[in-house]
Amino acid sequence: MSTPVSIVEVAPRDGLQARREHIETAHRIALIERLRRAGIQRMEVGAFVSPKRVPRMADTAEVMKAVGASERAGDMVLVANERGLEQAHAEGARAIAVFTAASDAFAEKNIGSTVSASLQRFAPIVARARDAGVFVRGYISTITDCPYAGPIEPGAVAPVAKALREMGCQEIALGETLGKATPARIAAVVEAVAKNVSMDEIAAHFHDTYGMGVANVWEAVRLGVRTVDAAAGGLGGCPFAPGAAGNVATEDVVYLLNGQGMETGIALGPLLDAVSFCADTMGIAPTSRVYKALRAP
Ligand code: HMG
Ligand code: MG
Repeated sequence: MSTPVSIVEVAPRDGLQARREHIETAHRIALIERLRRAGIQRMEVGAFVSPKRVPRMADTAEVMKAVGASERAGDMVLVANERGLEQAHAEGARAIAVFTAASDAFAEKNIGSTVSASLQRFAPIVARARDAGVFVRGYISTITDCPYAGPIEPGAVAPVAKALREMGCQEIALGETLGKATPARIAAVVEAVAKNVSMDEIAAHFHDTYGMGVANVWEAVRLGVRTVDAAAGGLGGCPFAPGAAGNVATEDVVYLLNGQGMETGIALGPLLDAVSFCADTMGIAPTSRVYKALRAP
């Protein structure tokens, strides 16, 4: 039997959060519906963050209602603070993600606090969410490189992962925010984090700026990681990470894992239809190689 790998689709959140142009709420909803048709079970549908800082996520409550997120354990939203948790609860969110970093410089730009202050701030949020039966993921950005502080050592990542796990996060997502690292550096981080967090609680969240996304995903999976984030079409980027491109494309990851005899439960054809919707209706050009090979005119 082939090994299952769970894909967390992040296009509706990471994929769209940094777009300069206005995104129609109806388009975000239609994209989520199309992605579900491809068999995606886990998806980040939005973010409850400051709408002044990330205007594209301001319609998250409306999107959640429209896609029936409260009915789906796999639908997740980012939560920046207590207020974000209130909003997530009000919409009946079943899964949330809190987010910090391995670099103080990035955390300051992204969430306005140092890493240790953010951990203190998130602890009661995680506790409240868990008490309410909500699944909680904890993100760590800049696991290998920070746009402001440069290279990051695995030794700076492991304690943050441990702290997030100890405060109650059920999954630790390792964010290679800049998309620069090569597999050896990914392996060093995964191995450092895995000393305190079990492999089945680690998720790989890799951006693809230098074209290393698929190689890095494979390295993480080879080491035993079984949850992989990806964005249809290779969309994505953080507004506070200058120079970073999109996430590794879901279709590239599905093609990779299928070829390596692993099972994602995602059908490539309908997934490419969702990417075509981004291209044709939303006007967002896909960057993925697999889309170009199979669908580009
Ligand atoms: P702050 O400016 O330090 O402090 O924000 P604040 O609490 O005073 O908030 C500023 C304004 O935002 C206020 O409005 C608040 O009311 C409002 P004003 O008084 O000026 O009119 N506000 C909110 N409004 C609605 N809902 C809320 C909310 N919170 C504040 N929940 C804060 C601190 C953390 C809120 C802010 O810095 C923030 O929202 N940051 C989020 C940034 C973000 O979303 N970044 C992208 C996601 S992370 C990412 O992409 C990386 C990842 O993909 C992994 C990887 O790739 O590495 C996950
Ligand atoms: Mg990201």
